[in-house]
Amino acid sequence: MQPSRANTSGNVHGGEIMKMMDNAAGIAAARHARSRTVTARVDCLEFHYPIHIGYYVRCEAQLTFVGTKSMEVLVKVYSENIKNEEEAILALTGYFTMVSLDENGKSKQVPPLKLICEEEQKLFEEGKQRYIARKQNQNQNK
Ligand SMILES: CC(C)(COP(=O)(O)OP(=O)(O)OC[C@H]1O[C@@H](n2cnc3c(N)ncnc32)[C@H](O)[C@@H]1OP(=O)(O)O)[C@@H](O)C(=O)NCCC(=O)NCCS
Repeated sequence: MQPSRANTSGNVHGGEIMKMMDNAAGIAAARHARSRTVTARVDCLEFHYPIHIGYYVRCEAQLTFVGTKSMEVLVKVYSENIKNEEEAILALTGYFTMVSLDENGKSKQVPPLKLICEEEQKLFEEGKQRYIARKQNQNQNK
């Protein structure tokens, strides 16, 4: 993280990290859908620890749930001081809902998610519950 990304406290500006997370979610979703995607929603974005200037930052993005045209991506951000041997810490987490688009910018169906291990199945079930709750909320607000 370069000084140009600092906020007035001298740590990394939250918006810079959110942009990285959005990019990571977009790449993971586009790889799955094999199409372009847009961000429709962000849930449970949490800043667990500040990220310091000079630290190495790594974003991990994993599809957790797939609906018909939407995908939920869990993004984890790790921060590491490369000058010592301390382990990287989990600094931020968030769930991004990405929607697949066709060439005309219309939402488009995505392939199902292949679940290999128990952890993936658990994440999928949790994602499904959030998806159902969102749909119910949307219907109530209509
Ligand atoms: C996201 C967007 C493409 C959805 O378009 P839409 O015409 O409402 O699409 P649909 O009604 O066909 O819905 C497609 C899927 O997106 C999901 N979706 C749409 N809006 C959503 C929202 N706000 N939150 C979560 N999911 C949403 C729907 O639930 C549906 O999921 P499913 O097919 O898996 O059940 C449209 O609202 C859009 O372009 N938004 C702006 C996105 C953008 O510019 N992002 C970048 C921000 S800088």
